[in-house]
Amino acid sequence: MCQGGSVEDIDLTDLDRFAHGFPHAVFDRLRAEEPVWWHPPTAHTPDGEGFWVVSRYADIVAVAGDSVTYSSETGGERRGGGTLIEDLPVDWAVGVLLNMMDDPRHAGVRKLLMPSVAPRTLKLIEDDLRQRAADLVDAALAKGECDFLLDLAAELPLQAVAQLLGVPQQDRHRLFGWANVALDYDDRELGEATARTQRAVAETRAYGQELLAAKTATPADDLLSLAAHATIDGQPLTDMEKAMLFSLLIAAGSETTRNSIAVGMLALIERPDVWRTLRDDRTQLDGAVDEMLRWASSTSYNRRTATCDTDLSGRRIRAGDKVTLWWTSANRDASVFPDPHTFDITRRPNPHLAFGRGGHFCLGSNLARMEMRVVFDALLDRVEIAELTGPVEYTRSNKHTGVRHMPVRLRGDKDSR
Ligand code: HEM
Repeated sequence: MCQGGSVEDIDLTDLDRFAHGFPHAVFDRLRAEEPVWWHPPTAHTPDGEGFWVVSRYADIVAVAGDSVTYSSETGGERRGGGTLIEDLPVDWAVGVLLNMMDDPRHAGVRKLLMPSVAPRTLKLIEDDLRQRAADLVDAALAKGECDFLLDLAAELPLQAVAQLLGVPQQDRHRLFGWANVALDYDDRELGEATARTQRAVAETRAYGQELLAAKTATPADDLLSLAAHATIDGQPLTDMEKAMLFSLLIAAGSETTRNSIAVGMLALIERPDVWRTLRDDRTQLDGAVDEMLRWASSTSYNRRTATCDTDLSGRRIRAGDKVTLWWTSANRDASVFPDPHTFDITRRPNPHLAFGRGGHFCLGSNLARMEMRVVFDALLDRVEIAELTGPVEYTRSNKHTGVRHMPVRLRGDKDSR
């Protein structure tokens, strides 16, 4: 099967294996030896069934680009589905959440939302975000030592998504708390819901419904008002679609970006020469942001379900099989990225898959890039030296690669004179 031992020891559903960061060595091996690997069920695997692990760039691009063969909803005889390893039910997630919907409904909803996240619209909130980022960095500098994750990386994305959706800023910390609980796997295993997580999901949904009702009555110039009044083929979105869109955007908009900012910052802290280069030459920031996105790859994987029997790089996939696409692995594929484990802000081209590929390509990519530019601009303007003051605590998740805590000391220009 594979040379130099067996891949059978690999268990991508054991979250402890992700507790110290993404296991790149495991995926180096899979890409080399078993690029389309049948992951057998283990003690941790949800639904007690195996799934395909696709780890090479070219195969991932092929699957993500063929949403007819590989559905984001379901396939074969399967009853649940979706884009996580564990099956989610069809009534409230699959076919209802935008990212777990197939065309033509998916394309219709996506088209409605595109203008809200287009660069021209986002430009309108850029100055405001720049001011917010400057305030956050000034506050962190005044403290001297901070938790970079909580004080900086998490704050701006949350403020940005609240702004985009039209959530009153004073409510954003409630949402932040709920999103954190719903996405945290510190005290549970894959597919497991605790009373705490169930409560957080229910509270987010209830809050979203209340806000949607307010936006329906009194629309404003924000994404939620647009969703509240939008129609497809003359019909409004269903209440469930609208409520789930709210939850999706809060989760997708805050978790991923904060992790890319934090892991990107860690890469820069570990490379003070790159920090200095960027301070002196801001024209390199766009390239650096893309390299941070590739490096951090904060969404590790998404799943599809095969809708028919098919072949993928010589392996027979059956209708109904779960097929997981590991974006983080594609982003370290040496056939596309020379010297893939080197952080290189001058990497050109940099066709990373951090935002996915194909019809479900990240709807928030422009916003995420803008947030990263704004945060790092504010940091580079003000911070001469950034250093870790303690160990980084990673998220225990195979879905979101990122950090929970990152103790950092920031020193401004004045402090170091
Ligand atoms: C660095 C930050 C981000 C990363 C790494 C990221 C990653 C991804 C990836 C990999 C997908 C594809 C999912 C799939 O193919 O199944 C995706 C989809 C999506 N993302 Fe992001 N995302 C980020 C930021 C955001 C932000 C800020 C928002 C919202 C404001 C957002 C909203 C969405 C939505 C709604 C989808 C579903 C699109 C569809 O199904 O058509 N994301 N994202």
